[in-house]
Amino acid sequence: MSEASLYERLGGETKIKAFVADILKNHQNNPVISPRYSQAKKSDEELIRLVTALICQGTGGPQTYDGMSMLAAHTGMNVAEAEFVAVLDDILAALRKHGVGEREQAEMLAIAYGMKAEIVHQ
Ligand code: HEM
Repeated sequence: MSEASLYERLGGETKIKAFVADILKNHQNNPVISPRYSQAKKSDEELIRLVTALICQGTGGPQTYDGMSMLAAHTGMNVAEAEFVAVLDDILAALRKHGVGEREQAEMLAIAYGMKAEIVHQ
């Protein structure tokens, strides 16, 4: 019997969308990165929709992410290392708040960390 995908273990799209909304809320309240989000061109709803689709697709769900590549989305922002760590902090806090298991928390952080080279100093 094959093991459940990370998507299934996270509880599928509804659960993922709920913690993504909290990740964005955390960013907007995190002084290290909040100025970035007050300058965002996309609405909160659109950012939540895009990040939810990215996570669903990246964890084994049936959804298709239709947004920009991580490189294209963050090019020109010159994101600092400390900002990247702040995003990871906010992701972890939201996952904990939503009762995501420790193994799934670690897998999510590893996926996010894997995108660092496409996001930092671009
Ligand atoms: C693993 C980490 C990250 C992921 C998965 C991620 C994901 C995304 C996605 C999916 C979008 C929307 C792309 C689109 O418009 O099609 C986006 C936009 C954005 N990201 Fe990130 N991001 C990450 C890290 C960061 C960091 C470290 C910063 C800097 C503080 C940042 C700042 C932004 C901003 C400000 C936007 C909105 C751009 C706009 O609408 O004007 N992101 N991100």
